Amino acid sequence: MGEGSSTLEILDFGPAPSDFRAELVDGLGRDPKSIPSKYFYDEQGSALFDRICQLEEYYPTRTELAILREHAGAMAARLGPECLLVEYGSGSSIKTRLLLEALEEPAGYVPVDISREHLARSAGVLDARHPGLEVLPVCADYTGDYSLPQPSGAVRRVGIYFPGSTIGNFTPPQAREFLAHTAEVSGESGGLLIGVDLKKDRELLERAYDDAEGVTAAFNKNVLTRANREVGSDFDLDAFRHVALYDEKEGRIEMHLESTRPQVVRVGSERFDLHAGERIHTENSYKYEVQEFGALASSAGYRPDAVWTDPDSLFSVHYLSVR
Ligand code: AVJ
Repeated sequence: MGEGSSTLEILDFGPAPSDFRAELVDGLGRDPKSIPSKYFYDEQGSALFDRICQLEEYYPTRTELAILREHAGAMAARLGPECLLVEYGSGSSIKTRLLLEALEEPAGYVPVDISREHLARSAGVLDARHPGLEVLPVCADYTGDYSLPQPSGAVRRVGIYFPGSTIGNFTPPQAREFLAHTAEVSGESGGLLIGVDLKKDRELLERAYDDAEGVTAAFNKNVLTRANREVGSDFDLDAFRHVALYDEKEGRIEMHLESTRPQVVRVGSERFDLHAGERIHTENSYKYEVQEFGALASSAGYRPDAVWTDPDSLFSVHYLSVR
């Protein structure tokens, strides 16, 4: 069989599709107004996010990759032999490949993704590139109810890999709940390898979320384009501007879409008034000091075991152990 001609069987937990219209109407009805950040990632939004990851100003992606290049061996040593590697999201990234190649006799690779299409594509690519590796894709909402598939060989440890600092989209209480859930899923032998963006200078942070080329602005505004197309709202894209601010007290970057004039937005029969300067909050991206994240993980039942950072202390990768 040629590359990509085999089809991997997907273990499908039938994650509930999200209701953009309901969440949009709910968010615009709040004070302050908001739209959940998960709606950024339609096809156009995902392509814009890929461009963000290549920007000079956006340090997290290349820095996490550099940490992996430097320390994949040490990370693999923590995970140990016969590890069942479970990845939350994606599946075909270079980070995953580096980690898999460093692991000693991995028991299997389990990508978990809410999108069936994305999962099938990325798991297929990974499967073709790693002959001999058992790839067991799971379609599920990883924050919800699902269980792990059983590979054919022995499993000494379940290691969950959650790169990209996606945990930053959760508030700290939500992050604690999420961490506790991962510990439950992986069980007694569990370990969690997780990328976490570090606190740093405001200037550096704000530039990373408001680049000179305007790619992040386009990414932010794309959620309105998506709403207009999928829900039939009538956002005027020229009447909103991208805002990215670091709230030092909260330890988070906030992204907003700010109305440049008084306006009315319609979503079907619903009408929403915005005054000039009013903001729609579209994303939180929390940043953590190393010890701060360790304490959060401890409060979720993990033992912080190891942490790797880059020479400029921009980004961290934590290894947390259940036992
Ligand atoms: C994918 C959530 C990690 O918070 O840095 C990038 C998303 N938003 N630029 C982040 C994002 C604006 C990104 N995460």
